[in-house]
Amino acid sequence: MNARFEAKLHGDLEALKAAGTYKRLRHITTPMAPEVHMEEAGDVIVLSSNNYLGLADEPEVIEAGKRGLDRYGAGTASVRFICGTFDIHRTLENRIAAFLGTEASLTYVSCWNANTGLFPTICDEGSAIVSDELNHASIIDGVRLASKARRERFRHSDMRDLDEKLASVAGAFPIVIATDGVFSMEGDLAKLPDIVALAKKHGAIVVVDDSHGTGVMGRTGRGTVEHYGLTGQVDVITGTLGKALGGAAGGFTAGSLALIDTLIQRSRPQLFSNALPATVACSALAAVEYLEAHPELVRRLHDNVAYFRAGLKRLGYKPLEGESAIVPIIVGETAFAIKMSEKLLERGVFVTGFGYPVVPEGTARVRVQMNAKLTREEMDRALAAFASVGKALGLVG
Ligand SMILES: Cc1ncc(COP(=O)(O)O)c(C=O)c1O
Repeated sequence: MNARFEAKLHGDLEALKAAGTYKRLRHITTPMAPEVHMEEAGDVIVLSSNNYLGLADEPEVIEAGKRGLDRYGAGTASVRFICGTFDIHRTLENRIAAFLGTEASLTYVSCWNANTGLFPTICDEGSAIVSDELNHASIIDGVRLASKARRERFRHSDMRDLDEKLASVAGAFPIVIATDGVFSMEGDLAKLPDIVALAKKHGAIVVVDDSHGTGVMGRTGRGTVEHYGLTGQVDVITGTLGKALGGAAGGFTAGSLALIDTLIQRSRPQLFSNALPATVACSALAAVEYLEAHPELVRRLHDNVAYFRAGLKRLGYKPLEGESAIVPIIVGETAFAIKMSEKLLERGVFVTGFGYPVVPEGTARVRVQMNAKLTREEMDRALAAFASVGKALGLVG
């Protein structure tokens, strides 16, 4: 080991600790559920997970994964085009496409890979990408990889700025508008009807990363596109299988047959990285099927969001407004957000504090994420913790 380099790493880590922004990993010893056992804190209510529909520990999803393990073994031991494509990949991809109303879809080991595989594949010299400034890091990095394209950022959800930026890249082809469906740190929705209209005006295509919208938004959980009644009008949808759809891992890109075929031919994470493990594909398929058979889960999620939001407001909190299952409470400094989440954990509630550089300086937050399977009793217990911690920290009266 290079001693100077080691000393630098230690110095950087000590600086994070001194600033109160050092992240400590918590170790969970039970399945991801509304309540889990944590080595460091005992039994806690989880308000920090992307397990929006509670499918991560749904018996049908678990059993499907076990059957997949027995049938297909541990993994593909290959990338897709060499010998890593199993029939279950095709079944899952057809099901995702049917679920989202697109012609086809393609899975990846993560949505990170889906996003970083998409933009450099479809945007070459002469093209342009116009991206919301608050897009997820995987979109940002994907756009960076499209280094030959013109790249513009528009102010968050500012449609006038988007219009201007699109006008500024006129003549480029293709012009791609990239946006989250649900913004992960704000919990707000992209203004998709306006974005689709502007795309038509400027001859652009629309890419929506709906990782926090799939399974959450729309009456049947088909996402932000369903929420707005725009099925069939968004060119490309990317998403994750690691949140509402079973929570294991995996991501996908959904769009036209030609787009998916192009990604199979040229998308680098497809060409140079192993396929989604078959067992994960099996549980993800079971998760999609479960959601299709149980749309009432989505209603329960929406009811829980409304209940918890109202409870927080009654206590005097002012969460950011929004329609998704993400309820952020802005508290200011990063160290304060971390301290608040530690105090909540002492009271049996696991909710993460986020600060710079994940969100801009001064807008650190505690981000609550709802779960369809949380009971009223659990939510009331969590609200009681928010009441006492909020008072102790002087956030609420
Ligand atoms: C909007 C968005 N896109 C992509 C990802 C990455 O998903 P995955 O965990 O499948 O890589 C996330 C995860 O946090 C996300 O919030």
